Amino acid sequence: MRPQFLMTDPSEFDVSYVINPWMRPDAWAGHRKAEAVAASAALRRALEAAGGEVTMVPAEPGLPDLVFPANAAVVLDGKALMARFRCPERRGEEAPFRAAFERLAARGLISEIVELPAGLTHEGAGDGLWDETRQLFWTGHGPRSSREAGDVIARTFGRTVVALELATPQFYHLDTCFRPLSGGEVLYYPPAFSAEALARIEAHVAPAQRIVATEEDAAAFCVNAVCLGRSVIMARAPAALRQRLEARGYRVVEVDLDPFILSGGAAFCMTLRLDLVSQPTLARA
Ligand code: ARG
Repeated sequence: MRPQFLMTDPSEFDVSYVINPWMRPDAWAGHRKAEAVAASAALRRALEAAGGEVTMVPAEPGLPDLVFPANAAVVLDGKALMARFRCPERRGEEAPFRAAFERLAARGLISEIVELPAGLTHEGAGDGLWDETRQLFWTGHGPRSSREAGDVIARTFGRTVVALELATPQFYHLDTCFRPLSGGEVLYYPPAFSAEALARIEAHVAPAQRIVATEEDAAAFCVNAVCLGRSVIMARAPAALRQRLEARGYRVVEVDLDPFILSGGAAFCMTLRLDLVSQPTLARA
């Protein structure tokens, strides 16, 4: 089976409220819908060209950020831990995302749907990144997700969680400032993290595997990338970042995602990988 991704029909995308510092309703002003539709289609084509297969969630009037399905759930081994949003503006997305997961379950793409315990917030893969190399979850907390949600992820999936505190309003989801790549490198933007979080990153990622994003890379939303094999699909990239990744053997695929950057999101959060599986842990005697 090809790598499976969820995306959302962008026809109701809008920038009508401000819940992160990148959101620019004035710059968006409702007139770039066609550009958003084209940008989403280009991202879908890039995923398919890299070998992926995409399932679309239908658009819902009044839910402009439904285009960011990374925030729908944390998914591993067929299990989906559904998100609970911190901002009231996005809570309406929980029901349509749940319905989408029930349809995925009916198709056999998901085997179990789990709800987050009451009182906690967690915004899905935006703050819960599976690291295939290290076989662990990196979780982000602070602006959107509760710290304790990391413990729920550890229990739900039976995997190690490394919790990282996000220290700025600009990098409000972990996926805006941290991306493990298939070869074991981690592309990340250090100023987004607390000192303790940086120490945790450095404890798990050897110096040769650290690819430090510049402020320009992070502001271009290039850390918010999809890595599929040796392909790294991202928003329009500074040339130096492209060269650094190519020097490590990656193929950088750029997609113009400017309309979505006006909402504070780009390639990674416009998608959700559905078929990640962990390696079986060895049974201990
Ligand atoms: N406007 C959305 C929000 O602020 C953008 C979400 C982008 N998602 C992400 N995982 N970075 O919630």
